[in-house]
Amino acid sequence: MEKGLFITVEGGDGSGKTTQLAFIKEYLTEKGEDVLFTREPGGTALGEKIRSVILDPANKEMVPMTESLLYAASRAQLVSEVIRPALAAGRTVVCDRYVDSSIAYQGYARGLGESVTTINGYAIGDCIPDATILIKVDPAKSHARIDEAAMDRMEQESAAFHRRVYEGYLALEQKYPDRIVGIDGEQPIEEVSRQIARQLDRLLMKKHGL
Ligand code: TYD
Repeated sequence: MEKGLFITVEGGDGSGKTTQLAFIKEYLTEKGEDVLFTREPGGTALGEKIRSVILDPANKEMVPMTESLLYAASRAQLVSEVIRPALAAGRTVVCDRYVDSSIAYQGYARGLGESVTTINGYAIGDCIPDATILIKVDPAKSHARIDEAAMDRMEQESAAFHRRVYEGYLALEQKYPDRIVGIDGEQPIEEVSRQIARQLDRLLMKKHGL
């Protein structure tokens, strides 16, 4: 059976990722694609429980390695329960965040470095995205978009932390130019969507062999 297309979407907090995910959903559905949308952390019953532990602002004592392992644990469950079966059935899978988030947030910003790649090797095996759309917005601009009263444990981190996340993403974009497509998220919403649509068209052509 034909293996499905695996697309992940990445970006810092407040980068407009949620808006663009809604666009991607509409676009692919209109094209008649059989798409499964999922998100990280979460996406499974177990993963959603892990998510609430990770993001709860009350869990102030959580050390970076615990955080990294929890994200990876949620991911292992999602890969096995949701992503692999969907891809095996030939479906297109779109995931809101994936391993690159862990490398940017835990590897770069928390300073755990290469250990994050190792841990995630166990979590995902060979389940690597065909393409990753990275929405790039300078953190000084994106962070200002978030409502302070509703910030989760990660969003409450310092400006310096979010700057390191951003730098981590830029390093990943350089390291994996064939997989990661960086899009300038500081452009008007419609222009960002237009550029994403162009990438989706390219991927669909590849999938359907046109
Ligand atoms: P979420 O509310 O889903 O944020 P967003 O809408 O920005 O995707 O919260 C996920 C938070 O977890 C976000 O701050 C990024 C962070 N994160 C990591 O630090 N590591 C990871 O591996 C993942 C998947 C997310």
